[in-house]
Amino acid sequence: MATCNPALEQLGGYPLARLQDLANDLRADGGPVADFSIGDPDEPTPPFIREALIDAVGPVSRYPTAAGQRALREAVAGWVRTRHGVEVDPDVHVLPSAGSKEAIFHLPLAVLDPHGPRRAVLWGDPGYPVYGRGALFAGGVSDPVTLTDQDGWRLDLDALPAERLRAACIAWVNYPHNPTGATVDLDWYRRQVATARQHGLLLASDECYQEVWFDRPAPSVLEVCDGDFTDVLAFVSLSKRSGMTGYRAGAIVGDPELIRRLRVLRPNVGTASPDFVQVAATAAWRDQTHVDARRAVFAAKRDVVLGFLKDAGIEVSGSEATFYVWFRAPGDDDAAYAEALLRERIIASPGRAFGPAGAGWLRLALVPTVQGCRDAVERWAAAIDDGRLPV
Ligand SMILES: Cc1ncc(COP(=O)(O)O)c(C=O)c1O
Repeated sequence: MATCNPALEQLGGYPLARLQDLANDLRADGGPVADFSIGDPDEPTPPFIREALIDAVGPVSRYPTAAGQRALREAVAGWVRTRHGVEVDPDVHVLPSAGSKEAIFHLPLAVLDPHGPRRAVLWGDPGYPVYGRGALFAGGVSDPVTLTDQDGWRLDLDALPAERLRAACIAWVNYPHNPTGATVDLDWYRRQVATARQHGLLLASDECYQEVWFDRPAPSVLEVCDGDFTDVLAFVSLSKRSGMTGYRAGAIVGDPELIRRLRVLRPNVGTASPDFVQVAATAAWRDQTHVDARRAVFAAKRDVVLGFLKDAGIEVSGSEATFYVWFRAPGDDDAAYAEALLRERIIASPGRAFGPAGAGWLRLALVPTVQGCRDAVERWAAAIDDGRLPV
């Protein structure tokens, strides 16, 4: 029997996979299911992006390069300029990724010394599990920082003891935040960059929900760097912005020395997006109109769901941006409430699936269509009225 990487044995399943299995079981009997579990909305990819991909499929297939097509890097740089008012050099500060997940997972391989004193990777709990998992597989330590409702679910590096910061090599931040939908402002980014640099830490900012904002555009860490991106990387993605979860297209932007190291590492990993995906990604980054249209759709769904929760007297926290709505479990038990909702054929994620600090809360991903959201909250309200769900 071959040996097993202990990091793999430590994992258990991917937390949301079990919910997907339950959803599939429910669907099998043909009745209506409102699936608010996985962040993969039903809206189609805009036709011009699909057409760009189809037109780019040539008769001969070639390996894509890790550095990516120059047109794609230029398109990313152009988007950073128009969206954030920041100048970046496509050849020095930008590296395409096959979506942000793999880029997040692989980052520690370029940064973390498994035999050195700074093996920890900081990230916010509740949060996206891949930050900690990437650390473990690179031979490091996952060091989740508890986030709270009182602190607006914001991770503040300043609040951590210096020893904890000095034991870490990467601090992940993710705003707008999955799972809470919490947001931050430029002052907050300034403070995190200053603290990270003071302690020789890489500040890695997962900004994949940046385009899903409602009241005011979500800022980027790149905006507080004044052109000096030392120890700062932003991870951006087309998945949520352009409805391209299945394409696998994103980019890493920032510190030129880290980008150089990633250019050395990543050809070994072999995760470059296929060339036809890169062409479609280039078209997507160049256009902002479809992004605004998608945002309007999410805003409509959010209004339906927030309106219902308010009427039902259910407490909402965060939920300022992203297509997630984060609410306190009536009865305080997120797992029990998720199960009770399942009996009503509504699938929500219990907050504990995103880390222990998520217990007592649930996340709704605004995946169904606007009408699907309306139908679901109608059933939900009826279940409350009939006493099948606690309030
Ligand atoms: C916080 C966060 N980061 C990264 C990702 C991965 O996104 P991508 O599709 O760009 O790989 C997700 C996906 O849901 C996410 O929630």
